[in-house]
Amino acid sequence: MIKFDFETYLEGEVNTETFIAYSNSVDRARNDFLRENNMNDWYQFDMLLSEEELIDIEQTATYVRSKAELFIVIGVGGSYLGAKGIIDALTPYFKKDYPQIIYAGNSLSGEYLESLIDYMQDKEVVLNVISKSGNTLETSVTFDALYKSLKARYNEEEIKERIIVTTDKESGYLLEMAKRIGCKRFIFPTNVGGRFSTLTVVGLFPICVAGIDIRSILDGARSAKQNRRDYYKYLAVREHMYSKGKYVEVFNVYEPKLEAFTEWIQQIFAETQGKFKKGILPIPMVNTGKLHSLGQYLQEGTPIVFETSIDVEKNSDYYVEKYSRYMDTMNSIALKSVASAHHAEGRYTGIITIDEINPYNMGYLYAFFSIVSTLGAYMAGNNYANQPGVNKYKEIMRSQLNI
Ligand code: PA5
Repeated sequence: MIKFDFETYLEGEVNTETFIAYSNSVDRARNDFLRENNMNDWYQFDMLLSEEELIDIEQTATYVRSKAELFIVIGVGGSYLGAKGIIDALTPYFKKDYPQIIYAGNSLSGEYLESLIDYMQDKEVVLNVISKSGNTLETSVTFDALYKSLKARYNEEEIKERIIVTTDKESGYLLEMAKRIGCKRFIFPTNVGGRFSTLTVVGLFPICVAGIDIRSILDGARSAKQNRRDYYKYLAVREHMYSKGKYVEVFNVYEPKLEAFTEWIQQIFAETQGKFKKGILPIPMVNTGKLHSLGQYLQEGTPIVFETSIDVEKNSDYYVEKYSRYMDTMNSIALKSVASAHHAEGRYTGIITIDEINPYNMGYLYAFFSIVSTLGAYMAGNNYANQPGVNKYKEIMRSQLNI
């Protein structure tokens, strides 16, 4: 169950007229998006994967769960953020009943790599290296290092069983490596960009290794696509806020296991809309902790911020005798108290409430934010699918390194 409240704590700024005023431009953006077919295969949540492909993902994941103590996902940006967001959200904080999952290749830290190589020495390891281009430096340097470490331990046949490559079907360094090693390959869909790839084999495979029901995630995504009213309203709120000089949107979560998901939300908005000197700066915030640092700025600092908070009604049975309430109820009260305090200072908050953190709701939220960021880019006249700024640093770095 998901509820959207884009009214209570936006009162005085956003009203029914605001939603009506923007609905035509959302309609136009939606029609343009559907007509242009610009990298938009991700939007076909009902046709993304055939039954055969889903079974392949599930069987390969079962194999990994039986073989690995340590499953290392190598990738950067859109190649891992969405999967990590969903895995962290849907697995327990401490006791995990699947192979330990570690993420690598998302930095150029030599120390991280050295200690990972050391850590994996006495463990049964399986690697899943993910890159659409197959050439991203962080990913390939990390893959080379971990592959070398496996070669020092295993023969060719055994290594083949321990590497799964997700990359383009036609080109790139990783494709060459996969062919040379002869390992299992998943195809990174051509017509889907990295940050939109989580509900394809790219993200669903690691998510499935974590023991999560990927079919329910897809069910949730399909419903988000159908419930147009909610994303129309949210788009109107964002457009309206931007027009009033609210250039920063803070995404508040009150359940720390949603932190990685907010990092993916940050990516989807920043890379999809932050172009041509336009776009709202997305800032993730994990509360109540951050209320004791950033909270002051949001309450009384420069008024360039609006907020979207995700409220989880009930995710545990922990009951606080002293206050005669569930801890989760206290958390929701904290969220609404903050929204109310900020509202009193003319700072506005939309609230998305989910009954619990489950695969269906995570699929819903994933699709919801993907659709909103895309249509928002169309409304601003931006190409939603590219990330020329990211590519620029990659080019300069490559030329500095002479590679
Ligand atoms: O979302 C995106 O498109 C980017 O963040 C890419 O995923 C990221 O740069 C990694 O690229 P690649 O998958 O080619 O290694």
